[in-house]
Amino acid sequence: MKMYKVTVLEGDGIGPEITREAVRVLKAAAEKYNFNIDFDYALLGGAAIDAVGTPLPEDTVKRCKASDAVLLGAVGGPKWDNLSGDMRPEAGLLGIRKALGLYANLRPSKVFKPLKNASPLKLGDTACFDVMIVRELTGGIYFGKRGRFERDGVACAFDTEEYSQPEIERIAEIAFELAMSRNGRLCSVDKANVLESSRFWRETVLRVSEKYPEVELSHLYVDNCAMQLVKAPWQFDVIVTSNLFGDILSDEAAMISGSIGMLPSASLSSGSFGLYEPVHGSAPDIAGTGKANPLATILSAAMLLKISLKQEAAAAAVEGAVDAVLSQMRTPDIYEDGLRKAGTCEMTDAVISLI
Ligand code: IPM
Ligand code: MG
Repeated sequence: MKMYKVTVLEGDGIGPEITREAVRVLKAAAEKYNFNIDFDYALLGGAAIDAVGTPLPEDTVKRCKASDAVLLGAVGGPKWDNLSGDMRPEAGLLGIRKALGLYANLRPSKVFKPLKNASPLKLGDTACFDVMIVRELTGGIYFGKRGRFERDGVACAFDTEEYSQPEIERIAEIAFELAMSRNGRLCSVDKANVLESSRFWRETVLRVSEKYPEVELSHLYVDNCAMQLVKAPWQFDVIVTSNLFGDILSDEAAMISGSIGMLPSASLSSGSFGLYEPVHGSAPDIAGTGKANPLATILSAAMLLKISLKQEAAAAAVEGAVDAVLSQMRTPDIYEDGLRKAGTCEMTDAVISLI
């Protein structure tokens, strides 16, 4: 029987609750589809700060590197908000992305048909959308040179946006491949009317596009893209963009789906290794109440099954079970009249019984 190793980083807030549920689902899927997963646990974020005094312990990186995939809950919370930049829980998240070379961040955003009315947009019966944002994750202004200085007695600060040609090429290739496996359209988002790094981005994406004549490539400035996403999100198939623009646009795309509690993500390096986490945060306000929606983490586990473990049938079974459960019961964040109100565990139980 095939044996895989998955490292779980529970993190903070609702992180431990939602990863526990996703692990239960993974175990059920493994049993049903005849493979084994050995789970290992390691510290990240605020939990790591409290336990060992740093948001990203060396031991955590080592354990993740020794596994086939990583499942992450969420990090951060008010308890650690007053710590300095490199000591915050978020620094642990940025650190693990960099340490594991996870340069490609896949953030799907789609309307789940039963949740159509949850979108803040007026979506007609047929006008639904399914967008995949491919965000560059280990470069750009997040990792460029930064600092503070004084000029003529005035305090100043700076951050630097910098991309190398290979960094742009490899993320573009992932995006073109994804477009080929979906509807064949790719939109590259930049700010080439202002930024030199964006002009270089555009040139490089154009060059990569020569290898993918079947893909219809377009370019948008990021401000226009932000507008188009609320105006007509169904025009998009795959979007590829830089770290910072991808951070912003993926929050926007998640919100217009109306169900941020439903959206998974994958962060990949070359090869099949990846880190999987829900798009939503650690929601400290509802931690421990048993109300958190586990579906984004469960869907992240489905991406893990598909991309890293290559267990496509098991992944499809989990996704199908999530779809089906939505017409039976809902957690408070996506509740609608007439359905059963469910808590975190109950909703997971239902998913498991449908696998
Ligand atoms: C995200 C988050 C992180 C980011 C923060 C928590 C550092 O917003 O994953 O989108 O900016 O990348
Ligand atoms: Mg973000």
